[in-house]
Amino acid sequence: MTARPELVAEAASVTFSAGFGGRLRTHALRGLTLRVGGERPAITAVVGESGSGKTTLLRLLLGFQAPTAGTVSFGGRPVAAFGPAERRDFRRRVQAVFQDPFDAFNPFWRVEHPLVAPLMAFGLAPTRAVALEQSAAALAAVGLNPGETIGKYPHQLSGGQRQRVMIARALAVDPSILLADEPVSMVDASLRATILESLWKMNRERGIALVYVTHDLTTAYQVADVVLVLYGGMVMEVGAAEEVIHRPRHPYTSALVEAVPSPDPQVDWKLGDGREAAEPGRPPALGCPFAPRCPHAMPRCTAERPALFRTDAMRAAACFLHERAAAATPAAIQAAVAGAEGGG
Ligand SMILES: Nc1ncnc2c1ncn2[C@@H]1O[C@H](COP(=O)(O)OP(=O)(O)OP(=O)(O)O)[C@@H](O)[C@H]1O
Ligand SMILES: [Mg+2]
Repeated sequence: MTARPELVAEAASVTFSAGFGGRLRTHALRGLTLRVGGERPAITAVVGESGSGKTTLLRLLLGFQAPTAGTVSFGGRPVAAFGPAERRDFRRRVQAVFQDPFDAFNPFWRVEHPLVAPLMAFGLAPTRAVALEQSAAALAAVGLNPGETIGKYPHQLSGGQRQRVMIARALAVDPSILLADEPVSMVDASLRATILESLWKMNRERGIALVYVTHDLTTAYQVADVVLVLYGGMVMEVGAAEEVIHRPRHPYTSALVEAVPSPDPQVDWKLGDGREAAEPGRPPALGCPFAPRCPHAMPRCTAERPALFRTDAMRAAACFLHERAAAATPAAIQAAVAGAEGGG
């Protein structure tokens, strides 16, 4: 396998069924094509309101959730077909950080345990002493003082410190991809920027590709190269962060950007249209999931699903307002942004 294998979702859908005979369907993801990692590792922010499919996307990329259609592959091999050795390699190279920095700890273990154990298990440290040294280096890399951290129990650390330990844990095993689901939403606002900055540095200095899942447009703009806007399991808009936030093309993105009340990253955004987010996973089976709330909706919007149209070199929007443009995939847009940033 190459040094930087790509993690690729290809036309991947996830549908949950419930009720008698699976009659109630939730389309958590619809035909998503996305690339993470590879030779030009970027930071991709996935933004969307609650229920838009963000966590489902990360679980899909982690191999925790099988696609109901389409595929997920790593280094060109379908994740579902991995044997034990490949799975082990995948588990090391693709790391995840979740929202709740307390949930992830066993209260009876000292905080270095979750760092030392995987280093030993993956054979990355020959002895416990070496693993401890490596853990200390990983803690320092995320701005923690190893001397004040090692030996403590989880309850002796603040939420921000615990989340940084979790990020250190993910980074200690030398991954090529980090998938982070709302990593700072439960952390004190004063610490969010520091944590996001350390993630940004990991990308720029160590070439770790990052998928940053958030409902916070402001922090997405601060760290990401590419912003991908999800609604009802569908990509509404994807493009260079600057373009998506400053010149949104999709009515949904426009509404989101206008709903950001201030540039203060502590403030979450919510659509101010007074309507329920209406379980975005369960909008009309046909058409655009945003149509029921869209100020520009046309009759066809509830009957047909728009493709993702490439409105600009580094951006695409799934909206019939832009159907003169050619169709594109998020992966093509990601490649265009990476190419521009990499200098060609
Ligand atoms: N295991 C499951 N079984 C049934 N439905 C599910 C399951 N997991 C998620 N869903 C549904 O899929 C849709 C997308 O959920 P998901 O958790 O991916 O959203 P999200 O964007 O992460 O939301 P949040 O911001 O609240 O974390 C929702 O409608 C949710 O109810
Ligand atoms: Mg979620």
